[in-house]
Amino acid sequence: MTVQLERSSRHGDLGDDLHGDLAALVGRRTPGHSLEAPFYTSQEVFDLDMDAIFTRHWLFVATEAELPEPGDFVTVQVGRTSVIVVRDDDEEVRAFHNVCRHRGSRILDDACGSVGNLVCPYHHWTYNVDGRLLHADNQPPTFDRSRFGLTPVRVRTLAGFVFICLAEEPPDDFDEVAARIEPYLAPYELGRTKVAHQTDMIEDGNWKLVMENNRECYHCDGHPELLSAYFPLHGYTAQDVPPRLRRVWDRFEKATADLQAACVRQDFPVERIRELDSRPTGFMTFHSPLDGAGKSYTAGGEAVCRKRLGSIVDDRFGDFHLHLQPNSWFHLLSDNAVVFTVLPLSPGKTFVRSTWLVHEDAVEGVDYDKATLTHVWSATNSQDSAFVARTQKGVADPGYQPGPYSEVEGDVDAFVTWYISRVRAHLSRPRPSVS
Ligand code: FES
Ligand SMILES: [Fe+2]
Repeated sequence: MTVQLERSSRHGDLGDDLHGDLAALVGRRTPGHSLEAPFYTSQEVFDLDMDAIFTRHWLFVATEAELPEPGDFVTVQVGRTSVIVVRDDDEEVRAFHNVCRHRGSRILDDACGSVGNLVCPYHHWTYNVDGRLLHADNQPPTFDRSRFGLTPVRVRTLAGFVFICLAEEPPDDFDEVAARIEPYLAPYELGRTKVAHQTDMIEDGNWKLVMENNRECYHCDGHPELLSAYFPLHGYTAQDVPPRLRRVWDRFEKATADLQAACVRQDFPVERIRELDSRPTGFMTFHSPLDGAGKSYTAGGEAVCRKRLGSIVDDRFGDFHLHLQPNSWFHLLSDNAVVFTVLPLSPGKTFVRSTWLVHEDAVEGVDYDKATLTHVWSATNSQDSAFVARTQKGVADPGYQPGPYSEVEGDVDAFVTWYISRVRAHLSRPRPSVS
């Protein structure tokens, strides 16, 4: 088998055996350093990522707010696999392969919409939104429709968020993780929200660069809009905060104490959980206060929506952060939520969807102004996209060498450590013998 992995600037040519080459590449990862170039640029590592990560783990793919009524659907592309996520007539969220059971035609083309039944455009086999085949023309009397329902994909919801897993044997820790996360999400009642805005971006970078960029605020000087409300202190402690940020730190400590008190008053969990790299479903939760008015992501931290989410009674409720491996992060505020999902398209292209949620009764133009609601994260997304694109250019350059993470990039290291451990586990699985 011919190997197309790029030459590593540190280790020379990789050998002729693809599995061995990938195992060697993974095995020589240097902790505390960015990955070697092929992790970001090679088709073989991209294929490995799809097999080892995206077909084996639970993926955040949609919010329930995108599926308010029976028949509402979204389609999701995970590598070569297209999935229909749809709300059925019993209001359950279902997921199916977007492949007709007749001769395989793609069924739905649109990214979202609403249907009565799922009808294949080719010969019009018609499926209920629960996946059952209802109708197929010109079949013999012996034709058994019950054998040709749509092929299900594992799906589950968690406090208003929809996850799918393509694996035959999903990670066995998701139930436990979900049970630990749910109390943090429950007060926001995300099942009672609506989509105020959604953007899709194709970023010019590998999916891991998108995730690594999200997992640190070392670069947050590049986000002037975000910094009007966000304390750029993630990763620092009282001992190592630099002098230039000392006054910001003092404000942060006071706001943190106020936020903790607000959580305690409302009996919401406040414990920070950081299990990013120690388990298959790596995750992290934490509350952080916002600067200025402390209410939302706007200039000065002012609120963006008159209707608060769920049972939140305090405008100054900061930002509840949830990070999930491999492909998502979430910001929950007192009056809106912004959630992000990442899906790889190719070694150098990544799909990033951002969704803004507000209370289901909030009225645009009355309770919120969409431009104000979306301004900070739209600007931040564009800036992050530019950071990712310039990093992709750099890691694809023969001059690239892996470099060291700073002390405030611990969550980047945790993401990469998690990734390496999952890929390593995948490569060590027994391989089917070829005769
Ligand atoms: S391929 Fe779908 S009805 Fe024929
Ligand atoms: Fe950023």
